[in-house]
Amino acid sequence: MIYLCNSTSPKISESGCCGEKEVEALRLAIVSQLAKMEGLEQEEVRMSACMSNCIYGISVRIHPQNQLYGNVKPEDIPELLASVFTLKKPLQRLLIPPVNRFLGF
Ligand code: FES
Repeated sequence: MIYLCNSTSPKISESGCCGEKEVEALRLAIVSQLAKMEGLEQEEVRMSACMSNCIYGISVRIHPQNQLYGNVKPEDIPELLASVFTLKKPLQRLLIPPVNRFLGF
C-alpha cells in the first residue's frame, strides 16, 4: 500500500502542506509506473492525512515496508518503486530517518 499525503491542514504550522503541491501529478506517476511493473498492478495507492512530515512534503509512506519518504516528485517514481519493490531496499536519498519523522526536520 502506498499512501500519499494530500493534507491541507499541516500538523506542523508554518511548514506548508502537501495538499498545496502537485499531489495528483504524483499519484498519476505512481499509478502509471505500477502498471508497468510486473506483479504490482494490484498495489493500492491511497491519499492520506498529514504524516507530520510537512517540511518534506510531498510525503509518501509505503506499507508494509514502513518507509516514509519526503520531497517526492513524479520524476522520482521509477527509481523509488524499483528500489522498494524490485531491489527490496529503501531509496536512501528520499528516505526520512525515523528520528526526524515527528520533529518536522
Ligand atoms: S501536510 Fe503532508 S506531511 Fe503534513
